[in-house]
Amino acid sequence: MTPATPPPSVPPPTAPPSPEIPEPASIPAGDQPDRRLGRRAFLGRVGLVGAGGAAGAVTGGLVERATGPHGPSALDRERTRAVAAVRPGGPHQPGIVERPPAQLVFTAYDLTAAAATQARAELRALLTAWTQATSVLMAGRQPAGTGQRTLGLAPAGLTVTVGIGASALRRAGLGSRIPPQLAPIPAFPHDQLDPARGDGDLAVQICAEDPMAAISAARHLDTLARGHASPRWVQHGFRRTAAAADDPFGTARNLMGQLDGTNNPTAGTAVFDLAVWADSLSPSWLAGGSYLVARRIRMDLDRWDLFALDAQEKIIGRAKVTGAPLSGGIEHTDPDFLARHADGTPMIPVNSHVRLSHPQFNNGVRMLRRGYSYHDGLDADGQPDAGLFFLAYQADPRTAFTAVQRKLDRLDALSAVIRHTGSALFAVPPAAPTGGYVGQQLLES
Ligand code: HEM
Repeated sequence: MTPATPPPSVPPPTAPPSPEIPEPASIPAGDQPDRRLGRRAFLGRVGLVGAGGAAGAVTGGLVERATGPHGPSALDRERTRAVAAVRPGGPHQPGIVERPPAQLVFTAYDLTAAAATQARAELRALLTAWTQATSVLMAGRQPAGTGQRTLGLAPAGLTVTVGIGASALRRAGLGSRIPPQLAPIPAFPHDQLDPARGDGDLAVQICAEDPMAAISAARHLDTLARGHASPRWVQHGFRRTAAAADDPFGTARNLMGQLDGTNNPTAGTAVFDLAVWADSLSPSWLAGGSYLVARRIRMDLDRWDLFALDAQEKIIGRAKVTGAPLSGGIEHTDPDFLARHADGTPMIPVNSHVRLSHPQFNNGVRMLRRGYSYHDGLDADGQPDAGLFFLAYQADPRTAFTAVQRKLDRLDALSAVIRHTGSALFAVPPAAPTGGYVGQQLLES
């Protein structure tokens, strides 16, 4: 439980200090905005495509509440849509383009077999069992022999997404088929990684709007893994619920209170396809697939709360309430990185998070961030072990996550209040072929 009174080191809320935003040593010449990329097209939120688009398309939650664009019936429809069963189909696994529902259970597994031929057979058996169970669970039906674990539960937007780590391929004697995009994420100087919270042969990302549906599905897939693979680590996460939101498909806030996900690529656009799906440089077994980077990022929330609002906004480079860039406008206005105050200082500071991670400073590269907040209770010091379980889908982690994180680790003002404590990378195969299983293109070609 969180202590009722703040520890003595935390000053009263009436006189919050405003710690200085750490200045970067320097911004490399290559980090100047690349105007050739032009101003990006309007980027709506993932999942709004086809929804009529009227639901607060341009504002953050707080402003939206004040202006109230939803009639009750429109909001009801949005909430109903958020808990509808996700129908599998198309070339991609579910759980990537869909609106992230409120609950996450993410489990990494290790194959148990020692010999390569056995590991390969078990991988095939497990992926087959998981694929079959997933279609049953996503349709809201009772899988056979589950002890009625999912009895009475609607699927509530349930999705199951399976990833395969490089270590699984090595273990199964398929080391030569590891794509270069699955090269290990390098260690960054400020990493404080706990090996017990990282890596894994397989990953299962389960998302649902109902925590019972998510946990019950996770238990079922866990049961199917027995004899083939054992759980290595588990991370639970949460986002705001559709039931509580007045804009269920709008950008959600993280535990620091920021709108997080504003400048994600929009599903269904060429920009999204280029950023997220494995390209022609990936092996054919990954066509229609993606790569998933998972980072457990601990937030120092008590320290964050001590920053004054304007300091918090400078750290991110966006207004906290509306999510608008500090150069002006509304949530989805393009940031103008050349805009300056009268005294000549950039309106979006050089060490702000969005400036360092924006495509204009990263060769146009984007990724789909689909992370979840987590709160795992208190650590040994009584501080909340809470933060962001960062999940990002991308076409090539080497040029996306790793390239951006290399800069963030060194220069990002946000680094003062976060630390990375877990890391993993998985190839996410395309959807199962009709009547087949996820990963079949790898194991049978
Ligand atoms: C606890 C850690 C983090 C927090 C709280 C955080 C928060 C935010 C916020 C509030 C935004 C602005 C709104 C938006 O476009 O989503 C943002 C943007 C972004 N962040 Fe993070 N972030 C974190 C870690 C990371 C990491 C590790 C990466 C990748 C290495 C990353 C990459 C990005 C990118 C690419 C953008 C979009 C920039 C743009 O195009 O404007 N973030 N983040």
